Amino acid sequence: MTANEFITRSAEETIAKGREIAAKLRPPVLVLLKGDLGAGKTTLTKGIISGLGAAREEEVTSPTFNLVHEFSNHIPAGSLRRAGAFPCKVYHVDLYRIESFHDLETLGLEDALSEKAIVIIEWPEHFAFRTDWPTVEIRLDHAGGDSRRIAISDSSAEARTM
Ligand SMILES: Nc1ncnc2c1ncn2[C@@H]1O[C@H](COP(=O)(O)OP(=O)(O)OP(=O)(O)O)[C@@H](O)[C@H]1O
Ligand SMILES: [Mg+2]
Repeated sequence: MTANEFITRSAEETIAKGREIAAKLRPPVLVLLKGDLGAGKTTLTKGIISGLGAAREEEVTSPTFNLVHEFSNHIPAGSLRRAGAFPCKVYHVDLYRIESFHDLETLGLEDALSEKAIVIIEWPEHFAFRTDWPTVEIRLDHAGGDSRRIAISDSSAEARTM
């Protein structure tokens, strides 16, 4: 398990960090984003998903109401968009409003991981997850003004080599 900590001083810096993180992600992987309201989980996700080549930053919005947004980094026909290095589905999930196990089952997260997707989850604390999936856990904390502390624990690299 490796832990890395960074400070960003603007939303743009957090998006840039998300792009760096994206470059290291290999499906299947669960990316757990922890941190208070407004800590920057969705902002970081804009960087991750745009870095994966699955959508533009402005297409990544909070899945607060529909709980799951689905993207893909396969090249859409007729698009100039860059293809991801590892073509896969990318799911952006927000469990802030999850209310029951039934809700969670309807999200299809198990299916998402069995099809070797990249699954990014905000508010993972709202549900207990199995832990045998390769997981990158990222904690974001307010650090005064527009500063945020971002701590990354990556157990996915070890999982890949086992
Ligand atoms: N360094 C920074 N990193 C990320 N966001 C920042 C930073 N500085 C200011 N912000 C602002 O903080 C807000 C972060 O909101 P964001 O939706 O990303 O948080 P969140 O953690 O997803 O919240 P929620 O729990 O409500 O989903 C945005 O308005 C963003 O512009
Ligand atoms: Mg959010």
